[in-house]
Amino acid sequence: MITNPAHPGFQMAYEGKPAWDLGRPQPALVEIADQITGAVLDAGCGTGDNALFFAQRGQPVLGIDFVEFPVKEAKRKAQELEVEAEFLQMDALELPSLDRQFDSVIDCGLFHVLSDADRRAYVAALMHVMKLDSRLFLMCFSDQEPAGPGPRRIRQNEIRAAFADGWTVESITPTHFEPNPQSKETFVDGGPRAWFAVIRRGS
Ligand SMILES: C[S@@+](CC[C@H](N)C(=O)[O-])C[C@H]1O[C@@H](n2cnc3c(N)ncnc32)[C@H](O)[C@@H]1O
Repeated sequence: MITNPAHPGFQMAYEGKPAWDLGRPQPALVEIADQITGAVLDAGCGTGDNALFFAQRGQPVLGIDFVEFPVKEAKRKAQELEVEAEFLQMDALELPSLDRQFDSVIDCGLFHVLSDADRRAYVAALMHVMKLDSRLFLMCFSDQEPAGPGPRRIRQNEIRAAFADGWTVESITPTHFEPNPQSKETFVDGGPRAWFAVIRRGS
């Protein structure tokens, strides 16, 4: 399922404790959990905390990540929690090869690491795996976060441009990523500034 080599930066990050690896679901996702309905795809799931949160709510869940370690770790957590959830090592750009469709998709920190070209391929891939009227819940670093290390800072109009054709951007609201407290990276206001976008497949 994996044709592109995983970014060595991510493999190295998982040799330690990455700043994003919170150990529980992101509060911004928990807040709107009732809107994230049906079968859920978690694209770039990391070690699975967000996916497992929805699995524990009784929803069918698939998490995918292109790095082997977090996928194994997510499977281990699912076993430990005795919850049913599926995790696969695969590149998000290859999602159409799944040949299945979801009611809700979570992207918590994937969109903002993609190059412009990969972003276009990713949005096209999402189009394949999302049912008509299903929704994407996308959390990314925002341009309100000062420049520095970490992922790309995303402007609202970049999100709107990426999802201009065949999608409806229902809302984009400011929020924060809650970082792992053991992380050595420091952020203002308790966590990096982010956009939370809700995007419906269909115009
Ligand atoms: C910032 S981390 C967020 C992980 C997780 N969503 C979370 O909230 O803890 C981004 C994740 O996306 C994965 N990733 C990056 N590019 C990817 C791609 N093209 N396909 C699949 N996973 C990817 C990385 O390996 C990493 O686990």
